[in-house]
Amino acid sequence: MATQSKSKDSKFKELFIDELKDIYWAEKHLVKALPKMSKGATSKKLADAIDKHLEETKEQIKRIEDVFEILGMKAQAKKCEAMDGLVKEAESILEDTEAETMVRDAGIIIASQKVEHYEIASYGTLVAFAKKMGMGDIADLLSKTLEEEKKTDVSLTKLAESEINEEAAAE
Ligand SMILES: [Fe+2]
Repeated sequence: MATQSKSKDSKFKELFIDELKDIYWAEKHLVKALPKMSKGATSKKLADAIDKHLEETKEQIKRIEDVFEILGMKAQAKKCEAMDGLVKEAESILEDTEAETMVRDAGIIIASQKVEHYEIASYGTLVAFAKKMGMGDIADLLSKTLEEEKKTDVSLTKLAESEINEEAAAE
């Protein structure tokens, strides 16, 4: 029935918008958290990777605002309990590890990758939903962010496997 599918579509869009508000909050929260993680890192490569991602994150926030604009809405954030928890975990890793150790750096990588995986799941879903709703321009914008998150995750894995884990294991 046409009316039934119309109401289903609108609930689907509501869910999409809800997720968008969630990731908007999450990204804004990360802009505050990433400098602490970068400052806590000993490896210059790790600090540089986090700093690079901080700059990307600021652009990602603008992209979400562009998506809200395309939807004809004002950008709205809704507290993301998951990201709040992941950032708290990152902070406790900084508290529980010694400064200037590779063990701390390995811990920062764990925390960062958990964040990236959450974001990859969120953006992956948002892109799929946007495509399903025929919103190609929104899907394109969010795909750019999804690719950045995936690249960040890969570069963190490389950094861990190529040097940090080995040095941490030797400490
Ligand atoms: Fe992000």
